[in-house]
Amino acid sequence: MNIEILLLDNAARCESLLDTLTSENDPDYGEIFEAVRYSLLGGGKRIRPFLVNSFSAMFGGDPAIAAKLGCALEMIHTYSLIHDDMPCMDDDELRRGRPTNHVVYGEATAMLAGDALLTMAFEMASSPEIPAETAKAAVRLLSRQAGTFGMIGGQMLDLKGEHEHLDFDTLLKMHAKKTGALMEAACLLGCYAAGIFDPDDIHCIAAKQYAKGIGLAFQIIDDRLDVIGNNDILGKPVGSDAESGKTTFLSFMSPEQALDYAKDLTEQAKNAILPFHGKEPLLELADYLLYRNK
Ligand code: IPE
Ligand code: IPE
Ligand code: MG
Ligand code: MG
Ligand code: MG
Repeated sequence: MNIEILLLDNAARCESLLDTLTSENDPDYGEIFEAVRYSLLGGGKRIRPFLVNSFSAMFGGDPAIAAKLGCALEMIHTYSLIHDDMPCMDDDELRRGRPTNHVVYGEATAMLAGDALLTMAFEMASSPEIPAETAKAAVRLLSRQAGTFGMIGGQMLDLKGEHEHLDFDTLLKMHAKKTGALMEAACLLGCYAAGIFDPDDIHCIAAKQYAKGIGLAFQIIDDRLDVIGNNDILGKPVGSDAESGKTTFLSFMSPEQALDYAKDLTEQAKNAILPFHGKEPLLELADYLLYRNK
């Protein structure tokens, strides 16, 4: 099994479903459909849908339900990227190897494209073919993890870290929220697709522990790539964090120390899922994310 092939296969299937799910159009509303599809279908590693699908498969879930929930989450993730890149936030002009949404469509349409993706995610998560209990749990989870106590909270800490130096514990909290919250949502959605909802169930506990490790490691590596990465490979601007004066992992340690820190977290993540059959893709994913260059 080669993780890169698994990821490419996952990305192709995810992209094709996202394409179908956003094919409805009404020309009266101008460029909004194009702006939504520009960011949503414009590449991306599709890590979060991979997590949903892999946890669901490991725990015996329905692949079609997992795929749909993964697309809902990818819509929220894409919305967060469109807004993250806007001039009032990170002010970046390159994303997934292409000009950012606001550069192409203007700030107002980019803002609405983000809003549209966020709301569309809940339409997808509550689709008629998703069993009512799963849909209800998924909508509640996505709201919580994307909201003030999740990704939004983390983004607020990130902005705060531009004006003042955050202490290390606050930085850990920021990473756990701005990136970890949607990673946790992904792993738990996989449990939900398998009909497991109880937060105290061993499967949900394992999913949360795995998400905690890879989520934090993921953002540490993201911070590291912002310093030592390559624009062309990364598909987004290197040096953006320093330019905004952000507090990142690299404000506290060298790129080598950051990698060691992420390695420990990756091992913790892998240990959390060791008891389960079908864990191999998730073990390989954890290592892949550690050594990625994009
Ligand atoms: C980028 O996420 C934003 C962070 C949370 C660091 P990804 O690295 O998963 O971005 P795409 O979806 O592959 O473009
Ligand atoms: C983004 O963190 C996290 C979210 C979009 C929620 P970053 O600002 O570090 O992500 P990149 O580096 O722009 O992808
Ligand atoms: Mg940001
Ligand atoms: Mg950014
Ligand atoms: Mg970054």
